[in-house]
Amino acid sequence: MIKKAVLPVAGFGTRFLPASKATPKEMLPIIDKPLVQYAVEEAINIGIEEIIFITSEEKYSIEKHFQKNELIEKKLVLSGKSEYVDKLNPKIFSKVSFKYIIQEKQNGLGDAVLQAESAVGGESFAVLLPDDLFFSEKSCLSQLVETYSRTSTSVIAVNKIDKKNIHKYGVIKPGKEEFGAILVDDIVEKPTADEAPSDIAVCGRYIFTSSIFKFLKKTSADKSGEIQLTDAVRSLLISENVHAKIYDGEKFDCGSKKGFVHATIALALRDESISHDIKKIIKEIS
Ligand code: UTP
Repeated sequence: MIKKAVLPVAGFGTRFLPASKATPKEMLPIIDKPLVQYAVEEAINIGIEEIIFITSEEKYSIEKHFQKNELIEKKLVLSGKSEYVDKLNPKIFSKVSFKYIIQEKQNGLGDAVLQAESAVGGESFAVLLPDDLFFSEKSCLSQLVETYSRTSTSVIAVNKIDKKNIHKYGVIKPGKEEFGAILVDDIVEKPTADEAPSDIAVCGRYIFTSSIFKFLKKTSADKSGEIQLTDAVRSLLISENVHAKIYDGEKFDCGSKKGFVHATIALALRDESISHDIKKIIKEIS
């Protein structure tokens, strides 16, 4: 039903300098897999057929990562390490097509999503921010698709957070509950704790109807010079219903150092090949 996913990966990744100087932030690994691959797999697993990256010239390694590498594959087979072949060229990548669109200037997330307009066409589509990592039995995107199948509206993933951190996120003003989701009454980008309309914050997974593009085009840059996706959603709300789905599962904000380390520890403890040793190391350190 949702066939296309947009992955904005053109940001500067300032909070991860110097690691993000020559390596895109989205290519930093959690254990042995780059952040961006977790998001791509989440999209493929719900039946997405086309992945549209909004990227920059400097981030060519992302494109390379999703290309088949036959030379290394042959070398692995010849050296008796065939078990790594699927890690190198996962079969599921062949189920989708990858498209790369350059965002000429880092004018913000809203501007990044707008670059996908012609590639998306008139269909509803998904947006995944790879620096938000989600862990749950049913993936975050799959939970959104379930809601979308009932509402046919734009659906935003949200979660409840501590008010002291609310100023870092887009925050919704919740309306009535329907279709197992919340009707969004209003949405604001990075409010102060006093101004925040609730403690329900936006996470990095969305489904949008194609009307969002009309409003992205009309959205002007904020004080920091960025076109905010949240501001376009606020305008969209005037003409269309938008729903928010409280995500059921764990979320790690890997765009911050704390979230990145948290995700690394949490995943290491789930990885059977290392969890025992990691538990021991954590005990020893603490
Ligand atoms: P962030 O807000 O985390 O910004 O973007 P950033 O530039 O990556 O990181 P910092 O704040 O400088 O440390 C959220 C997502 O939107 C993309 C980023 O690549 C990231 O996946 N993005 C952001 C763009 O594609 N273009 C932009 O102009 C801004």
